[in-house]
Amino acid sequence: MKPLVLVTGATGFTGGHLAHELNKQGYQVRALVRDFSRAKDLEAAGIQLIKGDLRDKASLQAALEGVHTVYHIAALFRPENVTEQDMWDANAHGVRNMFEAAVETNVQRFVHCSTIGVHGEVKNPPGDEDTPYGPGDYYQESKTDGERIAIEYMESGKLDVVIFRPGGIYGPGDDRFLKLFKTIKKKRFIMFGSGKVLYQLVYIEDLVRGIILCGTKDEAVGNIYILTGKRYITLNEMVATIAEAVGERPRRLKLPVMPLYWAGYACELICKPFGISPPIYRRRVDFFRKDRAFKIDKAQRELGFDPIVKERDGIQQTAEWYKQMGLL
Ligand SMILES: NC(=O)c1ccc[n+]([C@@H]2O[C@H](COP(=O)([O-])OP(=O)(O)OC[C@H]3O[C@@H](n4cnc5c(N)ncnc54)[C@H](OP(=O)(O)O)[C@@H]3O)[C@@H](O)[C@H]2O)c1
Repeated sequence: MKPLVLVTGATGFTGGHLAHELNKQGYQVRALVRDFSRAKDLEAAGIQLIKGDLRDKASLQAALEGVHTVYHIAALFRPENVTEQDMWDANAHGVRNMFEAAVETNVQRFVHCSTIGVHGEVKNPPGDEDTPYGPGDYYQESKTDGERIAIEYMESGKLDVVIFRPGGIYGPGDDRFLKLFKTIKKKRFIMFGSGKVLYQLVYIEDLVRGIILCGTKDEAVGNIYILTGKRYITLNEMVATIAEAVGERPRRLKLPVMPLYWAGYACELICKPFGISPPIYRRRVDFFRKDRAFKIDKAQRELGFDPIVKERDGIQQTAEWYKQMGLL
């Protein structure tokens, strides 16, 4: 019988796909859940639910009892209505709570989900696992702190640790790219800057295969892997591909990016004291400014990671799913 695994973040996009796939592959899957009403699909699939929160270590100890491998996917990612402290509580302190509880409950392997965002902007693309840290906003900083904690435990030898850094995750079930699809469909998308910045996507099914390799391959232990698609594309190409998938022609309008960046900064300054989420913020503007392109040779060579979904197909399938759900 395959061992018991715990997936955190299973009520979210990535964790949800991962939990269902592990379940299909015959693992006994337990999901750490804050709100059971968000986990009906997991329950219906026979996945065991356990209540817990990254900020509450006692709940994590209970969730980790008897677990062989943890896939720690949960994080606070969306900036809306979230303070910097909330980010650190989940993405850094929450990671420490998870590791402490995992060591105390004799978990064998801990697969930690980081992000390519720990590198921030890649100065000489493509980067790789050795590209220096350069987080560019407080989400990325909190994830970098979380990764540092994971490395501390990796080096301690108290349990087997694997860290992976995904690129921009997309596919059915995602809602982060929905806004972009919608604005392109409504012909409201404006390109700020040249559109030549590099972006790297990873289709959810490819990523899930990579995560499971991190959780099962002996060679993975003690390593960090970038898991993203094979190709990086320009923002112009991404927008054109989405436009094709939603049956529109991309607009040619391009505006300079720096005024938008400073407007984002001003919005953050004004909105922060009132606890309002800013309509524009620098992190969103960075989408138009920063190159994020990486090699995935290490994961291909050591794990046999093979992301097969081409952007055109993945974007088409994502658009179809948005349409089926009545979102687009
Ligand atoms: N999406 C991307 O493009 C991308 C790129 C690189 C890296 N990543 C990383 O990939 C992971 C998954 O991202 P995603 O887009 O799939 O995220 P998501 O859909 O926003 O899901 C986040 C999950 O984390 C859970 N969570 C948040 N705070 C928690 C807490 N205090 N205690 C317990 N659970 C908590 C959420 O639970 P609730 O349902 O209760 O809110 C949800 O299940 C994250 O670690 C993220 O940093 C994402």
